[in-house]
Order: sequence, then structure tokens, then C-alpha cells
Amino acid sequence: MGIRSIKAKILNPKPDGTISFIRNGVIRFDTKSGKIHSIEQAKSQFEDGNDNRHKKYFLLPGLIDLHSHIPQLPGIAKNANELIPWLKNHIFPLETKFSDYSYAQHIAQLFFTEALHFGTTCIVAYSSVHKDATDISFEVAKTIGIRAFIGKAMMDRDMNKYPLPLPNWKENIKDSLEIAKKWHGTDNGRLNFILSPRFAGSCSMKLLEKTAEVSKAENLFIQTHLSENRSEINYIKSLFPNCSTNTHIFKKSKLLSDRTLLAHCLYLSQVELHIIEEANSKIVHCPTSNIFLQSGFLPIRRYQSHNIEIGLGTDVAGGYSLSMFNEMKNAIETSKIVNVDTTNLKKPILAASEAFWISTLGNARILKIDNEIGSLEVGKDADFILIKPNKKFQFYYRTDDIEAILLNLLYLPHTYSIEKVFIRGKEISDIPKIETTKPSSHLQKG
Ligand code: GUN
Ligand code: FE
Repeated sequence: MGIRSIKAKILNPKPDGTISFIRNGVIRFDTKSGKIHSIEQAKSQFEDGNDNRHKKYFLLPGLIDLHSHIPQLPGIAKNANELIPWLKNHIFPLETKFSDYSYAQHIAQLFFTEALHFGTTCIVAYSSVHKDATDISFEVAKTIGIRAFIGKAMMDRDMNKYPLPLPNWKENIKDSLEIAKKWHGTDNGRLNFILSPRFAGSCSMKLLEKTAEVSKAENLFIQTHLSENRSEINYIKSLFPNCSTNTHIFKKSKLLSDRTLLAHCLYLSQVELHIIEEANSKIVHCPTSNIFLQSGFLPIRRYQSHNIEIGLGTDVAGGYSLSMFNEMKNAIETSKIVNVDTTNLKKPILAASEAFWISTLGNARILKIDNEIGSLEVGKDADFILIKPNKKFQFYYRTDDIEAILLNLLYLPHTYSIEKVFIRGKEISDIPKIETTKPSSHLQKG
């Protein structure tokens, strides 16, 4: 079809950390190349060729979820407990089911489809410990068209209840490398492999060291969990008695670089923050999960004062929703809770515009793809969402105040619907249904 243009109220994050608002905005994009041609103020109300049907809608760049778990989708909003019993009794049995390739394919399809319906067009996700399930997760992401970083959960240390014989460190690395070889950088760079040592509680030092080596050699991102829960911290300390803190375990194994994403990070000391800052590693704030599993509250302002980039992720199923709107709201609520116990901070509470910036351009920067996605700019991918205010609640949206609009979008999900999602200039109205298939006996180039 070529060039398409849509008129809408455009909310767009800017490199300086602010959000711009164009009340009568027009986005032009190429449905073939999938790139944005222009973003501007409509010249006249009756300008030719524009699709005027959405002029009362809000148009936002697609959201980016920096941390989630594909096999945990069916475990959402169930069995709330603290982290370790929750993992052993609820999550590990669920993830074990990913040994069934067709089941994994089915769940991956539900997972990516649900993320898209919430306006997430790029997601960083763990699959399970199984190679074939990770492979099919990539296959499903490719068919659906979502941009994704996916990794095989690496575990070689028994948490005394994981109902599997776990692969040793060599097999973990070999399987990960095979999947990376097949998928990393495919679909024009939209699919990426991410090394995923689950957490120090399920990894030997050897596995962590080898993961760090592979990350350097292959230029791959790493995701892991750090300092999430007090019992977890003590459990891990008992496994690595020679390391003074859990962050020192990752430092010793050379796992920390500017391509390392550390989920949670609730109880970091000043020394640990300095280590992370020096390595330029990134922290992924998962506030919904931190509340649901009673893990704690991340002091975002204290961490930001350390010059550490902080992203945002849903951590499904620790988090009970794949909605980044819900995640942004809980990031703001968490900053308020932290503020109750803190004094003299200049700007203690996270603004909606900050939470939105982090969920778009901020997360894109952390993934080093802010030249491709994260905001609506000429030459970037036309990944965006159209939000339709509900007629019954339209009075909330009779404002041009950016913070007020965003607060409504985060706190009042019943006042609108995410009507359309575009990825690379194509509307995702009918997400392809995927036929269940058998696993290939060996991985082939995708
Ligand atoms: N730590 C180790 N594994 C997990 C997991 O699956 N979810 C969360 N929230 N924390 C973890
Ligand atoms: Fe997680």
C-alpha cells in the first residue's frame, strides 16, 4: 500500500527525558519498509490523504517490557507467597511442563499475543530450561511479529525441589549457543538471543563465568535476578560463602557489563551500587512483582543518584499482568511508599511522564536499540499504539496537560481501550493462529 498517514493526539518521548504532545498530530509511515516518514502538526483540518478516523485517539510508541517469563503466564495471579516457596511450589512445576513442545508453543502464543494487546511491541523474556521450548518461543515471536529478546533459563544447581535432572554447565552453554546461532539477529534484527542465568541460587560459579565469556565473545546481552528477597539473599550467600555480597558473585564471575540486565535489586548496599555503576550494568525495576511476592520496595531516587540506568519490566508471573501501564502505575505507587520512610528528597515521587519515558525510550536505550524504537522519529520503526477514550469517560481527556493525560492512562484503564497496535507499519488486527507442530530433532537456521 505504500505511505499511510494517521491523524491522532501524539504523545512522544524525547531524548532529553521529556514527553511532547501534538494535539493535531499526523504520523506518516511506509507500510512496506515499516519505517516512520514524518511526525508533525497537521497543517489543516481537512488535509488530503490523512486517515481522520482516529483524531480523538492517543497515539503512543509501542511499549517495551524489560523482564518477563514466558512459561509463567498460566501462573499469573495465583499462589502468592514469598519468592522461594513460590518458585518451588508453583513456578518450577509450571516451567517443567515446557518439556512438552506443543504446550510450550501454545503458551508462547498466548503470551506474546497478550503482550501485544497491552501495547507492548518489544519484550525481553525468559523461556524455560528446555532448548526446544526456547526454540519454539522464537518461532512463535517471529510468526506474531513482536520484537523480542528471548533466553533459555540457565540452571545447573539443584534448588532441592526442581523436578528435573538439570543440565550441567556445559550443556547449558551448548544449548544456549545453538539457539543463539539459529535466532540471534534474525527477522532483520528484531529477534535476539539473551543469555539467561536464572539467578545465583540456581547457577554454579563455573556456569556464571562461562556465561560471561560467551557474552563477551558473542556480544550478547545477559539477564538475571539480583537481591530480590531477604531469604533469597541469605540462601545465595550460603551457596557462595567467599563472596561478601550477592553482587560480588556476579563481579567475581565477570558477569557485569553494560549489557547486563539485573532484575529487582531491592536491597543493594552502597558498595554494591558502586560495583554496578562502575560496570555500567542496568537495573530492571519490577514493582508489581515486588509487591505481589512481598519482596519489597525499590528506592528509585537513591539508585538514580548513582548514575545507574533503571528500566521497567512486568516480571510475569511474579507480576500479575503483562500490562506496562499497570507496571508504570505501580512504579509510581512504590515511589510513594518509599517516600513515607524517607525525608528531604527533592522530587521523591516518580512522575507519570518519567515512568512513560522509562517504558519507551529508556528501555530502548538500555537495549541499545533507541535508534530503531522507543519513540516516534523519522527513520525509526513504525511501532505504535492507538488508544481510544471510552465515550462515557471522555471528560477525563479534555486536557492538553501531558502529566494529566498520562496519569489517566496509567490509573484509569477502564476509561479507554488499546484499540490498535502497529508493528513496523502493519496493523496487528489478526494475529496469525499458529498450528501446533512437532519439535525439529535438530535446530536449523530460522
Ligand atoms: N528468581 C529466580 N527465578 C525467578 C523467577 O522466575 N521470578 C522471580 N520473580 N524471581 C526469580
Ligand atoms: Fe523474573
